[in-house]
Amino acid sequence: MKDRVKVVVTGAAGQISYSLIPRLVDGHTFGNKIVDLELVEIPQVVDKLEGLVMELEDSNFPKMGNVNYSANFEEAAQDADWFLLVGSIPRGIVYKGKKIEERADLLQINGGIFVGQGQAIGKFGKSDAKVLVVGNPANTNALIGRHAANNDSQLWMAMTMLDSSRARSVLSKKLNIRIGDISKMIIWGNHSPTMYPDFENVISNGTPGKDLINDMNWINNEFLPIVQQRGKAVIDSRGASSATSAAKAALDTVVACENPTQSGDCFSAAVMTDGSYDLPDGIICGMPLITTPDGKVEIVRDITLSDFAKEKIKISTDELIEERAAVEDLLK
Ligand code: NAD
Ligand code: LMR
Repeated sequence: MKDRVKVVVTGAAGQISYSLIPRLVDGHTFGNKIVDLELVEIPQVVDKLEGLVMELEDSNFPKMGNVNYSANFEEAAQDADWFLLVGSIPRGIVYKGKKIEERADLLQINGGIFVGQGQAIGKFGKSDAKVLVVGNPANTNALIGRHAANNDSQLWMAMTMLDSSRARSVLSKKLNIRIGDISKMIIWGNHSPTMYPDFENVISNGTPGKDLINDMNWINNEFLPIVQQRGKAVIDSRGASSATSAAKAALDTVVACENPTQSGDCFSAAVMTDGSYDLPDGIICGMPLITTPDGKVEIVRDITLSDFAKEKIKISTDELIEERAAVEDLLK
């Protein structure tokens, strides 16, 4: 078992990273391992990272190893175990005179970032490196990066853990149970308003969600829209996209991949489709995952999907196919 881990974080001077980076070295996320950090930014703001490094040094983190910052992704990528690809533009801002309203509007702006980063990860990252794409539109950015990396031994994921956490929160309020009493909260499809939070396969204290919730009116008119539009609701209120909750979700994804999943549970992230559940080939799609006792992340293949679920998931996978077509030039 390795006692050190090297983690690359892009967008290191941004909102999410300010919550995320300190907690990578706090002794919880990677347990007893010493964590070496490579913090990456664009040249225009990279100098700001000097201040962040000062703060990290001043925070007395016993598990913090070497910390470097740079605008050179290729150098940062050398032998890295983990890549947290946060760096990209969020929606809610005005870009080139136009307000970015939907995550899909970010396709052309952010997609290009993942070609160069993907190539570098494929070439210089560890052969068993894990990559978590947070920057939006996360699924299609991960598709672009994975294609450019061209290295099947590495695992590319797009983050849907935040959606899963949001869905747990809404369900726990409805059922008047603690959030920790909900397991198997699967997010299917795209990290977008078409995502499908699978309330039927949730388990709470041994009872499946389909037996706990008999109120389709609430599912259709409250649960699904609240979860699917939560990112927008936060932007509308904060004037900036979710940051501390996104950081927690990224950390939760790392923890889920670093530790064997408890029997009967699973976690959510989007990965390359492999024929399971008749999902279309060649998209990065939200699915149920487990980490095996020997540290492999695998798709859970025995979930039963109702016709209602299949219909909703198809809407989301159709959207992913459309997104893929829109970035065809980046997938050559
Ligand atoms: P932010 O604007 O505060 O920070 C983004 C940072 O990325 C900036 O500092 C910017 O300079 C940097 N950056 C841009 N291009 C880069 C590149 N090529 N290499 C390295 N760094 C680069 O934004 P934020 O609030 O931290 O959000 C970051 C991204 O995460 C956005 O795309 C946002 O939509 C997305 N997001 C995803 C989820 C999710 O659940 N998947 C949740 C919240 C936010
Ligand atoms: C979120 O879900 O909060 C992020 O994807 C940000 C956004 O644009 O909604």
